[in-house]
Amino acid sequence: MKFFIDTAELSEIRDLAATGLVDGVTTNPSLVAKSGRNFLDAIAEICAVVAGPVSAEVTALDTETMLAEGRKLAKIAKNVTVKVPLTPDGLKACRALSDEGTMVNVTLCFSAAQAILAAKAGATFVSPFVGRLDDIGASGMELIRDIVAIYRNYPEFKTEVLVASIRHPMHVVEAAKLGAHVGTLPPAVLRQMFVHPLTEKGLNAFLADWKKTGQSILGETRVAAE
Ligand code: E4P
Repeated sequence: MKFFIDTAELSEIRDLAATGLVDGVTTNPSLVAKSGRNFLDAIAEICAVVAGPVSAEVTALDTETMLAEGRKLAKIAKNVTVKVPLTPDGLKACRALSDEGTMVNVTLCFSAAQAILAAKAGATFVSPFVGRLDDIGASGMELIRDIVAIYRNYPEFKTEVLVASIRHPMHVVEAAKLGAHVGTLPPAVLRQMFVHPLTEKGLNAFLADWKKTGQSILGETRVAAE
């Protein structure tokens, strides 16, 4: 499963990219607004830090302007993935950009029917929003199950399922069990995934016992046996 980071904050991206666990980045207009950054500058800087796909979302509603925006965004760096909304105009733009060789992430997907359309439009990624579905009392994970199962029936669908609107580590675990290709994680969720109280407790006990031995691994010089 690939991990993307769902933020436009460069310091967070740098910090988490250093773990070697980050395969890409997703942004949206809300995340850009939150960062307070100039959009085009932020995307250029993120693309220089992370080699994998970096989603940058168009803001137009009509195909023609979406295409103009998407082509401009795609020129920023080779790893820019143009994000378009799951609307008829968005899917027309998806087809055109995809045919030009640009990666496209179709966003705001809330049904399996929409995900089928995104795949037929040649999307590189489709982004079903699990958290926002859970928020209205529906099941985000059932949607992931359906989309993964449907895509598996059609090997000609090359679209990857990018689980978005993730709220907690169990969303990641459940999505991985279902075989979703990618999860885009808010930085806090990726950090939470490292944590388990037994890891901390076990490490403290090992270090306390090691201290009793009075030894130091780096303090000894050994010649390798021939
Ligand atoms: C990512 O591409 C989406 O825009 C993002 O995951 C939405 O998350 P939210 O529902 O927490 O805003």
